[in-house]
Amino acid sequence: MEEKVILLTGGTGYIGSHILLELLKDSKYNNHTLVVVDNLSNSNLKNFSRLIRKLDFQKQRVKFHQINLATESDRLEKEIFCCYHVEAIIHLAGLKSVKESIQEPLMYYQNNVVGTLNLLALVKKYCYATPIRFIFSSSATVYGEGCLLPIKEDARKLGGYDRSSGSGPINPYGRTKLILEEILRDLVIEQGSIWKITILRYFNPIGADPNGLVVEDPTGIPENLIPYVVKVIRGELPELNVFGNNYSTPDGTCIRDYIHVVDLAKAHLAALKYDQLSNLEIFNIGTGTGYSVLEVISEFKKLGYSVPWKFAARRPGDSPQVYADSSRAELLLDWKAELGLTEMCRDSIRG
Ligand code: WQD
Repeated sequence: MEEKVILLTGGTGYIGSHILLELLKDSKYNNHTLVVVDNLSNSNLKNFSRLIRKLDFQKQRVKFHQINLATESDRLEKEIFCCYHVEAIIHLAGLKSVKESIQEPLMYYQNNVVGTLNLLALVKKYCYATPIRFIFSSSATVYGEGCLLPIKEDARKLGGYDRSSGSGPINPYGRTKLILEEILRDLVIEQGSIWKITILRYFNPIGADPNGLVVEDPTGIPENLIPYVVKVIRGELPELNVFGNNYSTPDGTCIRDYIHVVDLAKAHLAALKYDQLSNLEIFNIGTGTGYSVLEVISEFKKLGYSVPWKFAARRPGDSPQVYADSSRAELLLDWKAELGLTEMCRDSIRG
């Protein structure tokens, strides 16, 4: 029987490792070979090795290749597409720091856009199974500011945004995601028949596997709220700066749609299983509920963790409120976030 291969790019990262965990746990994929490609620029092999040690009963089932999609497309071709009959791709590989993207826009376009173009060119050249299932990790940052809440997938006619009005992504990271969504749309217009593309727009993934098989291990001073709070709780940082206290929200602090990373990972398996009729679908992956920064701090307090904090100046680029309408994913993918803020905070600190 022909080998069935799922390619997971960015598979050693925080989200990728949780998706690998779910694939290894799901008996539907027991006969699949799981090929993980990552350049390890923003992750390491700790989670991957732990997962393989604990869960890969048939050792030969999971393969790892350290390849940079943007600069090593020849290796990607020789080591991956010439060797494996890839029938599905979950594409997460990419840089994701908003702040860094503002400081190094070219690095973000090179890594995120060129890397994906190299991947797509090889998929098109070697596509064994048609249609090719291609699941793309996108982001709520494509919506930019000022969308009606809760945000629906068509909140903004993407591609029609302009910077002056502030509509659409407001940083290079978000623009790389929007550009890649538009490239995927053009791909299916040109040759829809060979593609089944599912775009998942993540809101704010947090937490970690409750059994400790995958842990978030941010290096340096975290940019995002939860990893920063965890370092404060662990005494690795003195206190949390709450960016802004006079936003148009009930308690003056920004509201976000935090989603447990395990729920997010499960959404990818739901997308893989989804018998998608159209060549391209877009789904918001969030909980539909927003929590403010102060509500998150208070959740940790309820769990018994004190989080020293103080108000600080607003962080440029922060939107007052961002939370999803994920009803399309709930209906079509038969997926719904199951874990609440308590589990997210509990599992963040355990991770
Ligand atoms: C959340 C809230 C901050 C840190 C991020 C990524 C983005 C996307 C979604 C992938 C905001 C406040 C934060 C701190 C604070 N991920 N905050 N003190 O900005 O919604 O977006 O997740 O696509 O790429 O950037 O998440 O966790 O950075 O901030 O007060 O030390 O917490 O102002 O309101 P954000 P975040």
